[in-house]
Amino acid sequence: MTAMADHDAAPDTDATTATNAPDQPAAPTPDEVGAMYDEFGDMLAMTLGGAAVHVGMFVPHDTPLRTPSLVDLADLAQDRQTDFYIDTLDAAGATALLDIGCGGPAVRLAQRTGAHVTGITVSHQQLARCEERASAAGPDARVTFERGNVMDLTYADASFDAAWSIDCFAHLTDRPAGLREARRVIRPGGRFLLTEFSRRGTPPADEEAAFTRLWASPPPTPFATLLTEVQEAGYEILTVRNMTPNSMLAGELMALLYQDRRAEIEERYGKELTAQTDALIGPYRRFCRRYLEYHVLVLRTPEA
Ligand SMILES: C[S@@+](CC[C@H](N)C(=O)[O-])C[C@H]1O[C@@H](n2cnc3c(N)ncnc32)[C@H](O)[C@@H]1O
Repeated sequence: MTAMADHDAAPDTDATTATNAPDQPAAPTPDEVGAMYDEFGDMLAMTLGGAAVHVGMFVPHDTPLRTPSLVDLADLAQDRQTDFYIDTLDAAGATALLDIGCGGPAVRLAQRTGAHVTGITVSHQQLARCEERASAAGPDARVTFERGNVMDLTYADASFDAAWSIDCFAHLTDRPAGLREARRVIRPGGRFLLTEFSRRGTPPADEEAAFTRLWASPPPTPFATLLTEVQEAGYEILTVRNMTPNSMLAGELMALLYQDRRAEIEERYGKELTAQTDALIGPYRRFCRRYLEYHVLVLRTPEA
């Protein structure tokens, strides 16, 4: 993880021009995003850790992270990040919470808050993993998982006291629609914790395309675009925390674990798919080091 030295060399312009590569694929539909997780969920677990599918808490370094392997480090970092999100959401007193783009953190959220957590995802495989986790947590787990698309939610207005969405909005073809739908289903004055990736500077087209292909995402926008969309959707912004060092280290760890576990990955996915992924890992890692930002926002819906 010595690559952080490159960080300062990153351009610090806040370019607002689109940097779509000529061969940038069209933004994926929710079904295509779900299909990516269905097919590559195992690879994500092998390279990012099995505890969750999100950025891990590697920084700050206040507590030493002594783990026997990189995989254990990935799991520990993810659990620490989840605990940080639970503290930051601060849903004390809530009885009904929504996890948008759900995963293992939903079970931890229910355990720590005592609320019932409903989780939605567009991926059959992620849904099955969530259900396994719920069963493992026992009959008092207070979690329900369903297939659902945040851009078109089926819940009634004000169904939830609060919500979070961890590393999901990067997939959306219409982020403002997702923000409006989340606002609609959270009660007036309720909190919404949102994590999102942004782009700084103007990345080389192949590096940005590696990110969008690996994650089935549209190109990340500058952070200012996200702030504008959040405000236009009617939220009050309570806090913003820049956690870019953690997303940068998550990219490093993914690339390292990919190399470490390449033989396992090839056995699981075959030579052709692995060769396609091989070609993306280097540019993806450079993109995470130099052009990717990561923020955690706590928003509040307007009072009625
Ligand atoms: C990076 S994973 C994060 C999972 C979980 N939040 C965690 O922290 O482990 C992104 C999740 O968002 C889901 N997702 C992507 N697009 C979605 C959409 N339009 N509506 C609901 N979920 C979506 C994916 O299926 C996946 O489960």
